Amino acid sequence: MDIKKRLILSNAAIIVLPILATLVASFIFTFIFARIHDVDISYNTVNKLTQVQYEFFKADGSVLRNTPEVLLDKEFQQYIVTRLENVEADIVVVKEHERIFETIPIGTIELEKCLKAGSGNLFSNTVEINNDKYMVKVINVNFKDGEKGNVVLLAPTGNEWATTETLLLFSTSFFIVSFIIVNIITIVIFSKKIIKPLANLQKVAVNISEGNLDFEVVEDGDAQIRDLCRSFEKMRLKLVEAVYIQQKYDENRKMLFSSISHDLKTPITAVKGYVEGILDGVANTPQKIEKYLNTIYSKTVHMDRMIDDLLLHSKFDMGKVPLNFEKTDIVTYFEDCINEVETELEKDNIDIELHNELTECRYVLLDRDKIRRVVINIIDNSRKYMDKEQGKIDIFLRETSANVIIELKDNGSGISQKDLPYIFDRFYRADSSRGTSKGSGLGLAIAKQIIEGHGGRIWAISRDGKGTSVMISLVKA
Ligand SMILES: Nc1ncnc2c1ncn2[C@@H]1O[C@H](COP(=O)(O)OP(=O)(O)O)[C@@H](O)[C@H]1O
Ligand SMILES: [Mg+2]
Repeated sequence: MDIKKRLILSNAAIIVLPILATLVASFIFTFIFARIHDVDISYNTVNKLTQVQYEFFKADGSVLRNTPEVLLDKEFQQYIVTRLENVEADIVVVKEHERIFETIPIGTIELEKCLKAGSGNLFSNTVEINNDKYMVKVINVNFKDGEKGNVVLLAPTGNEWATTETLLLFSTSFFIVSFIIVNIITIVIFSKKIIKPLANLQKVAVNISEGNLDFEVVEDGDAQIRDLCRSFEKMRLKLVEAVYIQQKYDENRKMLFSSISHDLKTPITAVKGYVEGILDGVANTPQKIEKYLNTIYSKTVHMDRMIDDLLLHSKFDMGKVPLNFEKTDIVTYFEDCINEVETELEKDNIDIELHNELTECRYVLLDRDKIRRVVINIIDNSRKYMDKEQGKIDIFLRETSANVIIELKDNGSGISQKDLPYIFDRFYRADSSRGTSKGSGLGLAIAKQIIEGHGGRIWAISRDGKGTSVMISLVKA
């Protein structure tokens, strides 16, 4: 449930429920009470009480006030008697403490009680006479001869009045008790649905802040709190992932150090050997010296390339390589690339050919230098891992509705299925390539970083022993 909805509902419940419960309880109470005490608390009896009151007020007319002497008149007395008989009421007329007319035998003490009660309010104006309960109304009158008097009106209330009082007491107590109970229940529900889940979340926050991520945030409570739980869980998962990636990074870094030291050590040892050879006079002819120097040169070129790769790779890792996108005609671009490498490849007896199958679009947004690096790297791999007498590299340009797909296909050694998923990882080199050719294992890792920087995708298909296809997909401009 919504917190707002819950607030509205519980606020309403706190008021409405006790009232409803009290109404129902009062109803049942009246019913049972009437059964047990055999009193009729029907509408009629309540109505009768009102009627007595009404007759009282009628009798309290101006006639009585202005000429109380009529009360001495037998005829008027009879009229009053019949009037009050209808509602079973009685009258006592007192003139200077002397009773001059009464329809009910009443003692002096009781009369005093009546005079006292009659001046009270509605609820205290009941008096008990001969074990019967009466409602009293006293009207003060002044006789013509200057004497003062009182007209006391008495109406029997039976048990009804007492019942009403009990009912009132019962209803009030019931309302207070049910109000307290509903309040307690609301607080319990509130605590269960809002306070407890919040307390749990607080624990979660403390755990996370202490770096303890090994738990699950259980969704609990009202809608907004569940949302909050979900966000916390997402955050926890993100943090777990971040920690995992960090660990992976640390591992990679360690591997990077050992790989670099190993891969650089080999050519440096070779260079050192050749330099010593020259210094010690082992290379004693100009031809030998030239040969040594050439080897030293190629080794240093190789190291230079490796260090370049490393620098570029770590720059990509830190997100510090700005890409300079230009709208480029992909066909001319590849023709240029091919022109650049063709002569080098001819030396290794490798043919290279472009197959343009594009019909609609030939424009792609790319960083020319970086993509050239990718293409040269892939072609260089095809050259390095070529095991056929006559090498062949085919470049296909195709398209889907949104992308241009470039396939660089060779007829080299191919890559075994076991190595295929890892060739884009840094420093990964298939066992067969290790030691044999020069390489850092960074070429395809960098290619992947560059292509992904373009919002594209790169993957490889291999026909083991028959060749490899590296596929690149770039978004059309
Ligand atoms: N055209 C290819 N033919 C056969 N194997 C390849 C080819 N391209 C890549 N590989 C394999 O993938 C590995 C990773 O390539 P790369 O990242 O360029 O590293 P490197 O060329 O420095 O070894 C290579 O060591 C090689 O085993
Ligand atoms: Mg390579």
